[in-house]
Amino acid sequence: MKADQLRQKYIQFFVEKNHTQISGQSLIPENDPTVLFTTAGMHPLVPYILGEPHPGGSRLVDYQKCIRTGDIEAVGDPSHLTFFEMLGNWSLGDYFKDEAVRMSYEFLTSPRWLGLDPEKLSVTVFAGEEGISRDDYTADIWRSLGIPDERIYFLPREDNWWGPAGATGPCGPDSEMFIDTGREACGPDCIPGCSCGKYFEIWNDVFMQYRKTEQGTYEQMDRKCVDTGMGIERTIAILQGKQSVYETELFSGIIAAIEKLSGKHYGEDELTDVSIRIIADHLRTSVFILGDERGVVPSNLGQGYILRRLIRRAVRHSRKLDIHDFFLGDLSDYVIDQYCGPYPELEPNRGFVKAELKAEEEKFLKTLLKGEHEFEKMLPNLMKGKTRTIPGRLAFKLYDTYGFPLELTEELAAEHQFSVDREGFAKAFEKHQEASRAGAEKTFKGGLADNSEMTTALHTATHLLHQALRIVLGSHVGQKGSNITPDRLRFDFTHHDKMSGGEIQQVEDIVNEQIQRNLPVEMEMMSVEEAKEAGAIAFFESKYGEQVKVYSVGDFSKEVCGGPHVRNTSEMGTFKILKEQSSSAGVRRIKAVLER
Ligand code: ALA
Repeated sequence: MKADQLRQKYIQFFVEKNHTQISGQSLIPENDPTVLFTTAGMHPLVPYILGEPHPGGSRLVDYQKCIRTGDIEAVGDPSHLTFFEMLGNWSLGDYFKDEAVRMSYEFLTSPRWLGLDPEKLSVTVFAGEEGISRDDYTADIWRSLGIPDERIYFLPREDNWWGPAGATGPCGPDSEMFIDTGREACGPDCIPGCSCGKYFEIWNDVFMQYRKTEQGTYEQMDRKCVDTGMGIERTIAILQGKQSVYETELFSGIIAAIEKLSGKHYGEDELTDVSIRIIADHLRTSVFILGDERGVVPSNLGQGYILRRLIRRAVRHSRKLDIHDFFLGDLSDYVIDQYCGPYPELEPNRGFVKAELKAEEEKFLKTLLKGEHEFEKMLPNLMKGKTRTIPGRLAFKLYDTYGFPLELTEELAAEHQFSVDREGFAKAFEKHQEASRAGAEKTFKGGLADNSEMTTALHTATHLLHQALRIVLGSHVGQKGSNITPDRLRFDFTHHDKMSGGEIQQVEDIVNEQIQRNLPVEMEMMSVEEAKEAGAIAFFESKYGEQVKVYSVGDFSKEVCGGPHVRNTSEMGTFKILKEQSSSAGVRRIKAVLER
């Protein structure tokens, strides 16, 4: 079964079970400062898990593009990917454990759907801990479906718990499904979750049944939700009997192209394979970031920085394979051809993606030259030292600041009869990795955006600001990004020139006038077409015919949006613009607050 078929089957299965198919969303989350990228299918649905009504109802299904860069350094092995697609189904206060697990089992094992051998299926459930009971209920459902005790594993929080990203909020145990690949176990302790390759995780059912309170205790929630996620790449690898996600059709085109450019062959030499996988993975992710509805360009900040790292790492590995031309732009065609069906946003961005890849390759080449220069400058000092060794921290600085690979530093060092303190480099590297891993973990599981009163008020202020900007600057103003914390809003929009002091004042005045009118905020559900017709501002990510929520602030603003919002502008306070600055070419950024 190919990825295209799996996507289609999954959706069809859940539509037959009365789910509404909804569109996946952008990779760049809106209004959520806790993560850089959409990391799971549930991420754009957080407001609905928190209680907002969803226009699609209480049973939803979709496929969602996701990026996780927490263990970017692990990419290169046969299983890690930075970009992946997640299939998911949701119950928003509708069905719970029984139906969720039964549907998962049916989809996996029924010959009409995936037809996987039930004998190869192992599952994990939450082992419980102080204050939260063991999830025997879910284990019993698996047993009733015929999974024997030997293949039901009770595991702790690290493996089987989905928590709120913030301090409080909905959370709960999960149950993961694994397929035994038939490979030799790595030892007597090898169980699902082990990374040796025997068990392949393909699906996770999360049961949001608790609310973590401010006291740190767990309360049962009345309205329980289910969130599930199935990785497309892993699942088709299993269905196709492949040892690795890189051996599926999703990668064959790119890998063949890399082979042709380099004259090397995949599967002959481990070091070559690692480089080929890194290039293939990083290129695919970069194309999806650049080609996103809210695409970003390489920079030294946020998503742009991740993109820059991905592109540069791909280029570095291309040099290991003796590819010296600019090549990423040409290869991006393979990715876009592969994915433009399920992700139609890619096609119109084809030219842009290519141009940006090429520009970044050129910039990186210059940086490499600068790094070499920096190295030459360090040399006289190093010559004075007692040993002819380059300290690890200097090698790491070259790596970190100039993207200078250790191997290249070693090569240069050797030309001057120096060696590099590899251990010192590894230490500096590990320290850096620990720091970035800690950062990644904070945002990895969950990602429940904050729905505090202040964030909600700033969200409504964002709608007023958007409309006011369109009035003062013109209707070319469109939202390019929004990011809200309880302290401030940040809004990026298309506009070429710096705003004058007068324009800023005018926008601020308009927003405050509207706030003072005590306007009611109302929500209506309608189809995408009706929303357009009603003149709602929309970021049209939704499919034709799909139901959307339209929020109106009195007669002043109308926008397609998930919510939540205040009920009346009287709850907002005074709006103040703190800063107006450039964000990127043709995009301005406003930071503003509400003073109450
Ligand atoms: N949100 C769950 C996951 O990503 C389903 O594994």
